[in-house]
Amino acid sequence: MALRLFSFPGIERLAEGISRGLGAKLEPWTLRRFPDGETYLRADVSLAADDAIVLANLRDPDEKLAPLLFLAATLRELGAKRVLLIAPYLAYMRQDIRFNPGEGLTSRYFARLLSGYFDGLVTVDPHLHRYHSLDEIYSIPSRLCHAAPELAEWIRDNVTAPLLIGPDAESLQWVREVGAACEAPFLTAEKRRLGDREVEIEISGLDRFPGRQIVVIDDIISSAATMRGIVAKIRAAGFAEVRCLGVHGLFAGDAYRELLAAGADQVVTTNTIPHVSNQIDLSALLATRTRDLLADLEARQ
Ligand code: R5P
Repeated sequence: MALRLFSFPGIERLAEGISRGLGAKLEPWTLRRFPDGETYLRADVSLAADDAIVLANLRDPDEKLAPLLFLAATLRELGAKRVLLIAPYLAYMRQDIRFNPGEGLTSRYFARLLSGYFDGLVTVDPHLHRYHSLDEIYSIPSRLCHAAPELAEWIRDNVTAPLLIGPDAESLQWVREVGAACEAPFLTAEKRRLGDREVEIEISGLDRFPGRQIVVIDDIISSAATMRGIVAKIRAAGFAEVRCLGVHGLFAGDAYRELLAAGADQVVTTNTIPHVSNQIDLSALLATRTRDLLADLEARQ
């Protein structure tokens, strides 16, 4: 039984790293749109009971969803024993509650769709806020990669006297873990979201850490309103250096440029979503967790 990896376009380097780590053959396949916008895909392989692993970058998930589900269905029909999904960034996790009456609980609907087409899921730090585990909404087994040790390593290698800042109380456990791993003090800010691109930030206790180099840490940078709000407060408090570290750099619109313009000296992300800020490679971790999941699925048989 062999492992075959089918990667969506645009994430070639990550795909090569995962393929090496997994010992999986990286298979070519074709994806294009018909003139009317419908999806055409072709995987000219016979899978003969091999495991097929799909690697997809789920930034802009709506346009990728149909091709993703169609690829999973095609691979199954071509004989795949199991079809697994590696989605380094798992979209739709933030819609985990009806904030207003009548809103769609899209995290659940998205989970239901993926669970219907795949046999297992591997991802990196999904936004588990009101859900405690992916099992609450995904009916397939999953394995999570935690980027905290890798972030801590980056900080150790690049920042001499860091003070870590998490954007809100939710981030406390996480910032604490990174702080412990790189022996850095930490604070959490208070955040109030006023709109998609507007937040209000308060940070107390900065005066206890004069001269520190600030590292703001968040799981997702989307509009970068959160990071910009924190950077503004840090600059106003007179700190000379501020870096922003994000696991998933979505950077909607001009977010990256705006964050640099707001005063961030450096913006660093992992490679869950390809971006010029990627400095932390998670391919080995993703390969390891995928192996764990495959072993678990094998043991269940
Ligand atoms: C929210 O709960 C997340 O942890 C991030 O703080 C949020 O998604 C960042 O979004 P934005 O960059 O749009 O402020």
